[in-house]
Amino acid sequence: MTSVTLSVHISLAALAMFVLKAWRSTAFALYGYLNFTKAGFLEHSKRFKPEDMEAKIPGKNCIITGANSGIGYATAEGLAQRGATVYLVCRNKERGEAALSKIQSTTGNQNVHLEVCDLSSVSEIKSLASRFSKKDVPVHMLKAAPDARVITVSSGGMYASPLTTDLMYSESNFKGVEQYSRNKRVQVALTEKWAEKYMNKGIGFYSMHPGWAETPGVARSLPSFNEKLKGKLRTSEEGADTVIWLALQAKDKLVPGAFYFDRAEAPKHLKFAAATGSHALIDSIISSLNSMASLSA
Ligand SMILES: NC(=O)c1ccc[n+]([C@@H]2O[C@H](COP(=O)([O-])OP(=O)(O)OC[C@H]3O[C@@H](n4cnc5c(N)ncnc54)[C@H](OP(=O)(O)O)[C@@H]3O)[C@@H](O)[C@H]2O)c1
Repeated sequence: MTSVTLSVHISLAALAMFVLKAWRSTAFALYGYLNFTKAGFLEHSKRFKPEDMEAKIPGKNCIITGANSGIGYATAEGLAQRGATVYLVCRNKERGEAALSKIQSTTGNQNVHLEVCDLSSVSEIKSLASRFSKKDVPVHMLKAAPDARVITVSSGGMYASPLTTDLMYSESNFKGVEQYSRNKRVQVALTEKWAEKYMNKGIGFYSMHPGWAETPGVARSLPSFNEKLKGKLRTSEEGADTVIWLALQAKDKLVPGAFYFDRAEAPKHLKFAAATGSHALIDSIISSLNSMASLSA
């Protein structure tokens, strides 16, 4: 092949990738605007069944990460309201304590506890896991007790990315939003894999996305998006609705490894986004994650 032919091939491949990326972003933005906003929530809520949310869950122990703000806070409050014993995992003691006392006072449930842990640190996570297992408390939400379930909050943003083994964004021009979308895709694929791997252990694995909710995190990380969609975003409670719904439903109503949105199973890929086959990479991603975290399996 001559160098001219080769460069034409490379340009065509680059053009195809550019068009595909542009399509994924446009499809995500359009689909998101129609479905992920408050208007989407109100429309979807017409088919919600109020009785789905009436269950009380005293005696269930739930670990909620990122629980002092936004969707995590709303989830913790919603589960505490329903009588659960809730463990808030927060990286900042003061913010965690403020959330704890607010939840205790709004719900009247005193079974709310704080665990301080920075989830970006593998050693802190390991120390939390060992601290927690010494308590000998069965964990019903996050793992390992009868009827346990793990609910992972992903993002509709994952629609914009296929699964990639490039976990640390090795390209030179770092794009935070793209890396976020890639990480959120990993969560969906991991959930699918865990559901398959632990099928016989009685643990339910589900991922979900909350739509677009007005939270401190969105205001801080996406200020112009937050400004442009002012008044159109969901509340944190609306964002947390499907997390709580997944926590309350009988397991036989739910599909292991599925991705949920607004109390219903949602597609994991947008049409024509050429991302479906990418989930086959998950085993290699799991071994990279295990080696980063110094885990054996
Ligand atoms: N809001 C949306 O529209 C939207 C859309 C799609 C997906 N999501 C997902 O929903 C989840 C919650 O987002 P949010 O919008 O509610 O954000 P948020 O208001 O910023 O809340 C995030 C929470 O996570 C905590 N956190 C962050 N890094 C942590 C770490 N290293 N260790 C321990 N805790 C940590 C934060 O603690 P600090 O207060 O200490 O920072 C905070 O409590 C995220 O997974 C996000 O990707 C949100």
